[in-house]
Amino acid sequence: MRTNLIHTDDVSRVYVIHENDAWVEPLRREFEAQSIPYSEWFLDEGVLDLRASPPQGVFYNRMSASSHTRDHRYAAEYTGAVLAWLKRHGRTVVNGERALQLKISKIAQYEALTVFDIETPPTIAAIRRDNIAEAAARLGFPLILKHNRGGKGLGVRLFLSPAALAEHLGSPQFEEPIDGITLIQRYIKAPEPFITRVEFVGGRFLYAVRVDTSQGFELCPADACQVDAAVSAGVCPAEAPSEKFRIVRQFDHALIPRWQAFLAANDIGIAGVEFIVDERGRSFTYDINTNTNYNPDAEAKDGRRGMGVIADYLGRLLARSREQRALRTGTR
Ligand SMILES: Nc1ncnc2c1ncn2[C@@H]1O[C@H](COP(=O)(O)OP(=O)(O)OP(=O)(O)O)[C@@H](O)[C@H]1O
Ligand SMILES: [Mg+2]
Repeated sequence: MRTNLIHTDDVSRVYVIHENDAWVEPLRREFEAQSIPYSEWFLDEGVLDLRASPPQGVFYNRMSASSHTRDHRYAAEYTGAVLAWLKRHGRTVVNGERALQLKISKIAQYEALTVFDIETPPTIAAIRRDNIAEAAARLGFPLILKHNRGGKGLGVRLFLSPAALAEHLGSPQFEEPIDGITLIQRYIKAPEPFITRVEFVGGRFLYAVRVDTSQGFELCPADACQVDAAVSAGVCPAEAPSEKFRIVRQFDHALIPRWQAFLAANDIGIAGVEFIVDERGRSFTYDINTNTNYNPDAEAKDGRRGMGVIADYLGRLLARSREQRALRTGTR
């Protein structure tokens, strides 16, 4: 599918930048319910004419780090080019260039989180498969392997021993990350098997959702000492069964102001921040999702609707950008 980036009707609207129709469907419904004019830029491939100006409007970047797994190898790079173009023309963008940079590199996320005193799991990066064993020996076991450019739990596996890791590295199950960078990360053992994802829209706290990880990371006790039983554990809310997700009624956390400051400083308006709590009660933030999805069944039980809040937020930004333009051009 090719997207024409230039509109001739000059009606300002919200533009959603993405490459996965299924994840945009709930947002489309909310735009329609709230009568917000919108278009989509499906950026898998196409033409970007830098001589032209982008249309008027508000741009919401939902590009996914896992786009290459849907045969959209250059979607993130294409989005980077489009975001640079939008920036040059002074357009309002939600989740801009810096957000994309963080989206496609967990290393960039961790370094930026650390600036705000937000603790991340101890991590070593290995560039190319041959260097993973050495990095693992430095970090120690148990450890997690994951892709620097992740999403959907790409390459997320738990290893308890050097032998299990060596076997995996020599097997066809090893997945080469698209950017060549594998992260070797300390396994944070949670006393209860869940992680928490904290959702922000327009920089404001929306809600926190608890994700049950017992299916993903609980090792069969019988196998516990010889675990090659590495398990994948992606937590895409749009695709997971409902019981796995539960919105926390009353959520508060000392890190909320720091997460907010981090998001604001990194051009991230909308995101889900994932953290895990270890046995000593320490919180480790390990993933920032800038193309966040919400779990429909958990939302139905709770009553709050994330995509409704996003549509409302984008609608307000659109109204504001129209006002500003009217003031500039004197058409009011
Ligand atoms: N260091 C860790 N210790 C314990 N569990 C972890 C750790 N890192 C990841 N996990 C588990 O693996 C899941 C996926 O990891 P992560 O979010 O980093 O990958 P991802 O590719 O960004 O996945 P997604 O797009 O589904 O969020 C986490 O939600 C968590 O359950
Ligand atoms: Mg995650």
